[in-house]
Amino acid sequence: MYMSGLRVLILEDFSSDAELAIAQLKRDGIAVAHWRRVDTEADLRLALADEWDILLADYHLPCLTALDALRIVRERECSLPTLVVSGTVGEELAAALIKAGAYDYVHKDRIGRLGSAVTHALTAAELRATHLRDEAALEASVVRLARALDGAVHALGAAAEMRDPYTAGHQRRVAQLAVTIARRMRLPEGTIRGLHVAALLHDIGKLRIPGDILTKPTRLSPPEYSLIKMHAEAGADILRGIEFPWPVADIVRQHHCRIDGSGYPEGIPPETLLVEALIVGVADVVEAMSSHRPYRAALGVAAALAEIADGRGTRYPPDIADACAAVFTEDGFQFEADGKAPTGEWGTNGRK
Ligand SMILES: [Fe+2]
Repeated sequence: MYMSGLRVLILEDFSSDAELAIAQLKRDGIAVAHWRRVDTEADLRLALADEWDILLADYHLPCLTALDALRIVRERECSLPTLVVSGTVGEELAAALIKAGAYDYVHKDRIGRLGSAVTHALTAAELRATHLRDEAALEASVVRLARALDGAVHALGAAAEMRDPYTAGHQRRVAQLAVTIARRMRLPEGTIRGLHVAALLHDIGKLRIPGDILTKPTRLSPPEYSLIKMHAEAGADILRGIEFPWPVADIVRQHHCRIDGSGYPEGIPPETLLVEALIVGVADVVEAMSSHRPYRAALGVAAALAEIADGRGTRYPPDIADACAAVFTEDGFQFEADGKAPTGEWGTNGRK
């Protein structure tokens, strides 16, 4: 590195000017380990294959300009700091050179500035390199955190499904359909991300429901169904303790609410329902009706879509109902097969 002597590449057609620059650097107390002068594009490209600490570029050479040199340096994606040392550059051109990536411009008549300009350029380049390294490290840790969050969400979802083998994969398939509907509706990516997490966890409240009720193969009694209905609030309670950047707890709480005020929990004004919750609600109904249950065979996608069409504008928002129908009929949506037993969900009559 330049502490033990600077490696200087000079783009200059006059060797006397190049020697002048090197002499000036030495006068300014900058040790020069070695330097090389080039004056054609081919030589510059060849020289850039070696390691340099700084490029001093004259502006106007017979074959190329400093702007060309800056472009070539940029093309190589090398961060070689470049100073323009020239006698022919006006203010406008100097601004263009800085914009193109030059660190500074030193007029040949004021070559005494060269040492401090080089020192500043090297310091700035070092800071920039550190900043880029920090940024890359930050990005990597954001990616790691996002992966950890994904892992935690999937683990939580799987834990909820373990209580009831008939619901294995249900949340994942609901999430798959919900995200597809949201994409069709062109919702913002951030909203879709939160919707995905909430859909993967929407039945997590089952953890608080007695296992024998969850797996009961026959019709539920009214008290049993009341217990089942608690899973929406219970899920929201569990998730409220996690600081998600999305309203995951509220989406989970509202996923059985309908826009006509039916569903549960009661008392949530329909106009305050989150679009994500309404999408999870529609996807939940479709997935549940499409799947096999211990107490009934799968009703099929056609029946599920008929239910959504029947409730369009009453139970389900028209835009969500339409997007749901379109992803099946126009986009050929299919639930992912996971080889596990299909899933369960509860409807207003106790079971769907
Ligand atoms: Fe649910």
